[in-house]
Amino acid sequence: MARDQTNDAFVEFQRVQKSYDGETLVVKDLNLSMPKGEFLTMLGPSGSGKTTCLMMLAGFETATHGEILLDGKPINNIPPHKRGIGMVFQNYALFPHMTIAENLSFPLEVRKLGKPEREAKVKRALDMVQMGAFGGRRPAQLSGGQQQRVALARALVFEPELVLMDEPLGALDKQLREHMQFEIKRIADNLGITVVYVTHDQTEALTMSDRVAVFNDGRIQQLAPPDDLYEHPDNSFVAQFIGENNTLEGTVKEINDKIALVQLDDGEVIDCMPVNVTKAGERTRVSIRPERVETRKERLNPDAHLLKAEVLEFIYMGDIFRTRLRVAGNDDFIVKTRNAPDTVRLTPGETIEIGWLPEDCRALDA
Ligand SMILES: Nc1ncnc2c1ncn2[C@@H]1O[C@H](COP(=O)(O)OP(=O)(O)OP(=O)(O)O)[C@@H](O)[C@H]1O
Ligand SMILES: [Mg+2]
Repeated sequence: MARDQTNDAFVEFQRVQKSYDGETLVVKDLNLSMPKGEFLTMLGPSGSGKTTCLMMLAGFETATHGEILLDGKPINNIPPHKRGIGMVFQNYALFPHMTIAENLSFPLEVRKLGKPEREAKVKRALDMVQMGAFGGRRPAQLSGGQQQRVALARALVFEPELVLMDEPLGALDKQLREHMQFEIKRIADNLGITVVYVTHDQTEALTMSDRVAVFNDGRIQQLAPPDDLYEHPDNSFVAQFIGENNTLEGTVKEINDKIALVQLDDGEVIDCMPVNVTKAGERTRVSIRPERVETRKERLNPDAHLLKAEVLEFIYMGDIFRTRLRVAGNDDFIVKTRNAPDTVRLTPGETIEIGWLPEDCRALDA
């Protein structure tokens, strides 16, 4: 069969669809292939199908169409205790009648480990999440964040090859959250664990992951390493969803030699990189990151098209300046500049000219 293609794929979704009610598809034609040891994050708005994908991968839900393979074998044919999957659920359910130590010992008992070995592993897992002193308590005697850390330790205690985490840091404050992001990444790297991680938090996704799958409406909109996702969004949804972004609307006037000339709706013309526009006459949304806008034209190509901009607001933010402009009818056009000794502070009311390198300005779907 297609064994050759799956050789180095540890986790694989092949044309997976899921419907709960037999009518609407909440996951639509999902294809994904992960090598062993990869840290992959599913990022996307609420209801986009992230948890559903994790549940199918864990074997708690079955795909309506398509196949999910774990190490080359269909997941449905592997008995649950042989799947070697650790999970942290969105609502981190711990067993309420057991102590913390018993909660962690449980997956080891299921795997028939002896008492001394269980105790050593439980201690190490609890220490890892800084909960070593809490082994004798019950879940109800812990804060939400502490319970979440225990849930994490329980998913890792039997040293699974694959760990699925659904919003595992949701209940933590910012400082602990950042600490745990670092810890999870470190533990996963050290143990060589393959991780599928789900979050709403794009900073978390960008900082922790080898690759990020951006979900919307039951589909992966783009699957790419963090820098690629931020710098080369494939479509308007990804450009808007990841990081801050300026959008201008217009029509493609001509495309030649990797440059698209786009006529904005107020008549002005700009140079862009054609990403998913192919011919003159197409509508497009043009996307430019705030830090890629240049306010000093001596830094641009002499033949670059420039746009007039009215300064509406200047915000001093310490390390950067954030200036809001009116550009081609858009009152919310943001420019970020680094607070360097020679950076000009723009004044509201002033009219300036702005520009950019054509490769920083992406002509996307309308
Ligand atoms: N057991 C279920 N029965 C019926 N519909 C479901 C079930 N679980 C999820 N859904 C629906 O499937 C869609 C995808 O849900 P899912 O839980 O996968 O989203 P999600 O991306 O994890 O969202 P969130 O970020 O809010 O957790 C939603 O429209 C949801 O209402
Ligand atoms: Mg979810």
